Amino acid sequence: MTPIKPFITLGVESSCDETGIGLYHSEKGLIGHQLFSQVEIHSEYGGVVPELASRDHIQRALPLIKAVLADAHLTLRDISGIAYTAGPGLAGALLVGSAVAKSLAWSLKIPSLGVHHMEGHLLAPLLEKEVPSFPFVALLVSGGHTMLIDVKAIGEYEILGESLDDAVGEAFDKTAKILGLGYPGGPALAQLAQQGSPDAFKFPRPMIDRPGLDFSFSGLKTFARNTFAKHPGQKADIAKAFEVAATSTLMIKCRRALEQTKRTTLVVAGGVSANLSLRQELDAMGLKHGAQVFYPRQEFCTDNGAMIALAGHFRLSKGQSTASGEIAIQPRWSLEELEPV
Ligand code: KG4
Ligand code: ZN
Repeated sequence: MTPIKPFITLGVESSCDETGIGLYHSEKGLIGHQLFSQVEIHSEYGGVVPELASRDHIQRALPLIKAVLADAHLTLRDISGIAYTAGPGLAGALLVGSAVAKSLAWSLKIPSLGVHHMEGHLLAPLLEKEVPSFPFVALLVSGGHTMLIDVKAIGEYEILGESLDDAVGEAFDKTAKILGLGYPGGPALAQLAQQGSPDAFKFPRPMIDRPGLDFSFSGLKTFARNTFAKHPGQKADIAKAFEVAATSTLMIKCRRALEQTKRTTLVVAGGVSANLSLRQELDAMGLKHGAQVFYPRQEFCTDNGAMIALAGHFRLSKGQSTASGEIAIQPRWSLEELEPV
């Protein structure tokens, strides 16, 4: 009997300020991944400069692909399909990943597929040993999105609520900037908050007194600015008050979404899911309400190529692909437009 050839997916992430490459094997799971973060390039400007991001993706993508393949003792010829982030994200940065993936796939005569970046985040917990089972509620919290989603199966997503203004990661970043913490702000703010007192200030929990599952975080940032103007010596206390207000708002809405959908599994992903206070709040809520809570490992909370390889793998291995020859990106793209697998 001839053994069935494994399906190996190469994943390319380039939607913002990280070039990520992943390699997913149909039987062995994730067999390699590498990341190049552009933090140093953008930090002197206090935020991501799109043109610099695109130029750096061009330099990093191919060497990273070569390194990931070499580490896995594989060559380009072993790849069965290539997945790349098609959106949402910065158009120039997305074009780089798309052009690299499409050209390689064309030359290797294999299929390629544009992946939705947020589907990558959403499925990242499936890279862990203990995986959530469908259906579940997902909280996606990144620099560009804050969403609660009812996930019936891969590709079957119903948005239950989202932010009406700033994404929660954006609010962390902007508040960090107000406190002079630089970029990227979220992790720096979380670190400073550890030294703050939870009793010094109480910030409002936005939108929790309104029905529904939408969010609003821009007011919290304004509250932080006004408090800082009055109490410039209490940076850590302000960071703490902001973090407590943001994370408990997220927890309250997750609890509401679980009640509303009658689901008992919660998946939390995206950059802000790395936040330890958020994890503590959600774990405590899950214990109290009989819900299991799943997260990706820390390094797969923020952008990475492994999640794009995984999300692409589910689709490519079932025969889905994007028309060949076309460099296709979708900088604005709703999760609800995706096809089921
Ligand atoms: O998912 P991600 O890497 O990129 C986007 O798709 O946006 O998320 C980045 C966001 C940034 O806003 C960053 O400040 C935030 O995630 N972040 C955190 C933490 N780590 C990353 N926010 C709060 N606490 C953290 N530990
Ligand atoms: Zn992301």
